[in-house]
Amino acid sequence: MPSTPPDGQPVPADGSLPTAALQELAGGTRAFGIYVHVPFCASRCGYCDFNTYTPSELGGATQESYVDSVLAELALATRVLDGAAPAVQTVFVGGGTPTLLAPDDLARILAGIDQAFGLAPDAEVTTEANPESVTPASLRALRQAGFTRISLGMQSVAPHVLAVLDRRHTPGRATQAAEEARTAGFAHVNLDLIYGTPGERPEDFAASLDAAVAAGVDHVSAYALTVEEGTRLSARVRRGELPAPDDDVAADRYLAAEERLTAAGFAWYEVSNWARSPGSVCRHNLGYWRGDHWWGLGPGAHSHVGGVRWWNVRHPAAYARRLADGRTPAQAREVLTTEQRHVEEVMLLVRLADGLPLDRLTEPGRAAAVRCVAEGLLEPEAHAAGRAVLTLRGRLLADAVVRDLLA
Ligand SMILES: C[S@@+](CC[C@H](N)C(=O)[O-])C[C@H]1O[C@@H](n2cnc3c(N)ncnc32)[C@H](O)[C@@H]1O
Ligand code: SF4
Repeated sequence: MPSTPPDGQPVPADGSLPTAALQELAGGTRAFGIYVHVPFCASRCGYCDFNTYTPSELGGATQESYVDSVLAELALATRVLDGAAPAVQTVFVGGGTPTLLAPDDLARILAGIDQAFGLAPDAEVTTEANPESVTPASLRALRQAGFTRISLGMQSVAPHVLAVLDRRHTPGRATQAAEEARTAGFAHVNLDLIYGTPGERPEDFAASLDAAVAAGVDHVSAYALTVEEGTRLSARVRRGELPAPDDDVAADRYLAAEERLTAAGFAWYEVSNWARSPGSVCRHNLGYWRGDHWWGLGPGAHSHVGGVRWWNVRHPAAYARRLADGRTPAQAREVLTTEQRHVEEVMLLVRLADGLPLDRLTEPGRAAAVRCVAEGLLEPEAHAAGRAVLTLRGRLLADAVVRDLLA
């Protein structure tokens, strides 16, 4: 989620939505998911600008009262959606560090979602977890509570890379936690990797990929390190203590990820995401990319229902206060125009291996697609079949392709 949301329009105090948005949700043509943001971390990693708070930054909010606030927002969500929502197909608890909460707390949130909307029988229920904040017992408890998928922040196995990133876990802990998750009964386990960290050598990233594959997980996400404004990493780069990440190095690392993961039987389904089989993809994230409906619970969480997008106040204390006063925690919202929805659809669908139907493009966009095929950025066969699908070279230049297609 972006650090600075747009200004947006005011939201009614009861959080109510335009009738057209509710009708679109009730139409049932798109999936409905729930995101839960857990805004706590034991310490802040130098590269991270997610909306998360260490204990000294909580300003009166407490982890103990957080679950009650989330359940209060859930009650508000049931009033606002007023029977229009279908059963929940996916839940994603992210952060922050969700596993700083006890498994019982996460179980209470999940039970609350089930009571509010009903969980579809085959619902995907993911929680993010930090490697150092899970144990075999907590993983068993999460599985028992109904979680079906765990996503662990691994980042790297190289000690000097973990040190630059300010990670607290030892190099082997993430893959060990992944194995513990599988033993606890999780069929779906993801490891997040970061590449292009200053000081990372090609062999460091190769070792990270090997370790992720050897852990037997069914999903890997790999992101180029981004220097976010306002982070400790950005201050260190500005002071010249660390070199800025290099785009050419990032491209080489991406190619290494594709090669290693493909050799191990994974396939990309989104530019930064690889799955071992079609049943291993993250359905919740696919919902974001496909423009489905989701309600984001928690401080700073974003929601999207029927073309209306809103975002909650960011600080956990302000969030709790709003709900205690019986008001929506939404700070502002946007009603997306047809043009905005088109731009987002192109931006997001092009990044998927399924690609974008060419008939969603304007005339100049379709002409740009022909040029992209000639330049080796879009797959010729898919194009002949009516879709814009990135080639490997196109994945390295995805942002430029999007700009062309929107021309
Ligand atoms: C909310 S965090 C992950 C969960 C958990 N808090 C952890 O760190 O283990 C989601 C993922 O985003 C990625 N990420 C966060 N900030 C990033 C940045 N500046 N550049 C690249 N990847 C980033 C990391 O791979 C991280 O695991
Ligand atoms: S990367 Fe994860 S653990 Fe580190 S500060 Fe961000 S959310 Fe917290």
